[in-house]
Amino acid sequence: MSPQLELRPGLADVPVAESAVSFIDGKRARLEYRGIAVETLARDSSFEETCWLLLKGDLPTQRELTDFDDQLRHHRRIKYKLTDLIKCLPETGHPMDALQAGVAAMGMFYPSRDVTNAKSNWDSAVRLIAKLPTIVSAFHRLRSGDEAVPPRDDLDHAGNFYWMLFEREPSPAVRKVLDACLILHAEHTMNASTFSGRVTGSTLANPYTVISSAIGTLTGPLHGGANEEVLDMLETIGSVENARPWLEKAVAEKQKIMGMGHRVYKVKDPRATVLQELAEHVFVETSRPKDYELAVEVERVAAGLLGPKGIYPNVDFYSGIVYSALGIPRDLFTPIFAIARVAGWLAHWLEQLKNNRIFRPEQIYVGNHDVPYVPLEKRP
Ligand code: ACO
Repeated sequence: MSPQLELRPGLADVPVAESAVSFIDGKRARLEYRGIAVETLARDSSFEETCWLLLKGDLPTQRELTDFDDQLRHHRRIKYKLTDLIKCLPETGHPMDALQAGVAAMGMFYPSRDVTNAKSNWDSAVRLIAKLPTIVSAFHRLRSGDEAVPPRDDLDHAGNFYWMLFEREPSPAVRKVLDACLILHAEHTMNASTFSGRVTGSTLANPYTVISSAIGTLTGPLHGGANEEVLDMLETIGSVENARPWLEKAVAEKQKIMGMGHRVYKVKDPRATVLQELAEHVFVETSRPKDYELAVEVERVAAGLLGPKGIYPNVDFYSGIVYSALGIPRDLFTPIFAIARVAGWLAHWLEQLKNNRIFRPEQIYVGNHDVPYVPLEKRP
């Protein structure tokens, strides 16, 4: 053991790369993609434009954006063998696992092994962004006993995803809300799934393997999976009156309150604030869910109990409520997160490749040495 090594559990405060993709100021509730505030992008940009910004580093010209958008629309269809593969997956399985399997399988259809080829890397990035919504919606349709709905070229990314899920077009307001949700989830500095993707990328693995690693990491309840758990928690709490007693007991028992807390933000996550505004837009068209009033009360009570420790709502706290109001099933919340975050993962992967060194951290060995091998028949 090297005595000079200091263990930092969870790699807290340990930089693992230099990055120009995004920036968080956890005390000022500031999140920027390539220097632009996320609130501005959610209001004024589109998911397609945000993808370009993340991947290329600057906002596109009109011509670049039109061309990129055309490429995305062109690449939405998936191979019929991939649809067949999705058909064979158990309908009771989680859509995140189906997405991870589908993306890993894409690597067999597009065996782009040479990650030094910029053109091939760009083509893979476009394919991945374009096809993730098709894989998610195909799995959802097929598991429900319906046919997969083919993508439509005349709809934008968010509108087409909604179309493929429900076989109906979203209203302009719903389309805008879904688009803004994708923008808000597109990137978030060196979080667990991005790091996972960068680690896999550092081995020069193909981009489909990189993204399937990141998807796997996003599934956990401490990361992307928390948005599902927030609705479970609100169901358990049940009523506004029960919010305080439930939270007091949970905090006393040191339970983690889902959708609250963040390694970097010590104030309310700016994405949660924007999502709350978006929720109000959705409720103009849908009924106002009772979950929402309850969530607001949970936030209010939690501010007193957990606020002093810097624990406030994160992005997952209100996202599930917005998606539920749009009629989206609970287990598709995290796949939607992945459909958005693929942009950030790819931007980090391309950045990693520019100045790559394989990740090979150290460990602090705490096991034994010189242990004798005892033959099986002599073991107690
Ligand atoms: N509820 C109650 N207490 C909490 C919470 C919470 N949600 N989050 C942190 N704490 C407390 C811990 O109990 C701990 O208290 P202690 O010092 O008295 O032991 C302290 O705050 C530090 O907590 P850690 O778990 O060490 O903080 P860490 O930075 O490692 O974890 C995390 C961050 C995983 C997000 C954590 O806040 C959490 O588990 N939150 C709930 C799950 C969640 O919402 N995840 C989504 C995160 S956002 C995203 O990935 C998209």
